[in-house]
Formats: sequence, C-alpha cells, structure tokens
Amino acid sequence: MNTEYLKKIAAEKATEEIQNGMVVGLGTGSTVYYALLKLGGMVRNGLDIIGIPTSENTEKIATEQGIRLSTLAEYATIELTIDGADEVDPHLNLIKGGGAALVREKIIANASERLLIVVDQSKVSQVIGTTYALPVEIIQFGWEATQRMVNQICGKSDLRGGIQKPLITDNGNYILDCKFNGIPEPEKMELLLNNIPGVVENGIFAKRADKVIVGTTDGIKYME
Ligand code: A5P
Repeated sequence: MNTEYLKKIAAEKATEEIQNGMVVGLGTGSTVYYALLKLGGMVRNGLDIIGIPTSENTEKIATEQGIRLSTLAEYATIELTIDGADEVDPHLNLIKGGGAALVREKIIANASERLLIVVDQSKVSQVIGTTYALPVEIIQFGWEATQRMVNQICGKSDLRGGIQKPLITDNGNYILDCKFNGIPEPEKMELLLNNIPGVVENGIFAKRADKVIVGTTDGIKYME
C-alpha cells in the first residue's frame, strides 16, 4: 500500500463527518486534496455546504470542485475543519505548515468548533519536532534579525526556498524551517516563538485537534 492510498483513505473517512448545511474549514495539502475531491463529488450529488479555505491553493481546488466558498467575515464560527499535518504526537499536538499555509490554518482552526486532522501513518511520532522541521512564518522586514532570535531557541533554521529565491507565503511573508531534536513542551514553545518580534505565527498546534484520522496499512486508526 503506498502513502497516497493511506492519505486518501484517511481524508475520505473524514468527509463522512460532514452533514448538510455545515460550514466547513478546508485545510491545505496533499492529504486534504483527497477530501476536497470527495466533497466535490458529494456536492454534485446534492450536499449543501459552505467551505472556508485555508489557502489560495485550496480555494482554487475547491472552486474547481464546485464547493461553495465564503469567508470568516461572513461566518464567525466554523462547525468542522478538516486539515492535514506534518507530524502528530499521541497528545494530539501537531506540526503544520509544510505547505506554507500555517497562519491561515491556525486562524481557521481557532474559529472551528472541531478540528479533524487527516494523516498517513508516517506522520505519527512520540514527540513532535523529532522528524519534521518546524515552520515559522516571519515578516520580510529585518528577517535576518528575526532568524537570529529564532536560532537562539532552535539552534539552526533555514529560509525556505533559499536566499536567492525565498518562498513567499499567501500573506507575503517568509518561512524559516527550524530543526529541533523533539519539542517536549509544545504549548510553551508555541508561545515562546510567537513572542519574537517579526514572527507572525509558528506551526505548532498544541492540543488543538479534536481527532486525528490515520491511514495505516492495517486500515483507519483514530487518535482522540
Ligand atoms: C499546509 O501548510 C500544511 O499545514 C499541511 O496541512 C501539512 O503540511 C500536511 O500536508 P500534506 O498532507 O501534503 O502532507
């Protein structure tokens, strides 16, 4: 069974929790992609939902799928959000931002009554920050100074895309990828990094998920 199949079964399982009339947060990434395709099919078969996308890429895919979209200006509360993650621990702490959408994802997650995470089994680890570098979104102005401050915490970080052609997020910012040897206290680290001037947001989602659906070679597993 390849990873794409495991992503697909997890993402499609999550769509079973969507009911008619719901306002649904639409995450970003290659796993959520399968949920968007499935939702598109459900909409064509009569499901009536409103989606709030977490990135320009997701907005494009959802529009192609015929999913009706809106914004947080129109809806203060989202009933359910389906999103992916880069790393998940048994306490439902997450690292997100591999797709550079972490700021919008966190805003949408915070506005959601329930956050449902879909991953394949390779994303599960005992402590987040063990297998995946933590993305930190920073503003362009004075980014070198911001990076120095971030490095005092994590030791080393890389500007995503490199200095010649840095990746620019949907919000016009840069991303630093910070390598940790595990983040044993994610709640503290999330706050600590966000306290640095120039940091917009970081990819730690400490204890925000309500349920993680994991696609494994033994079928679907749940963490909640
Ligand atoms: C987007 O910024 C991310 O948070 C994604 O949700 C995360 O990187 C998971 O993406 P994949 O499903 O593509 O691995």
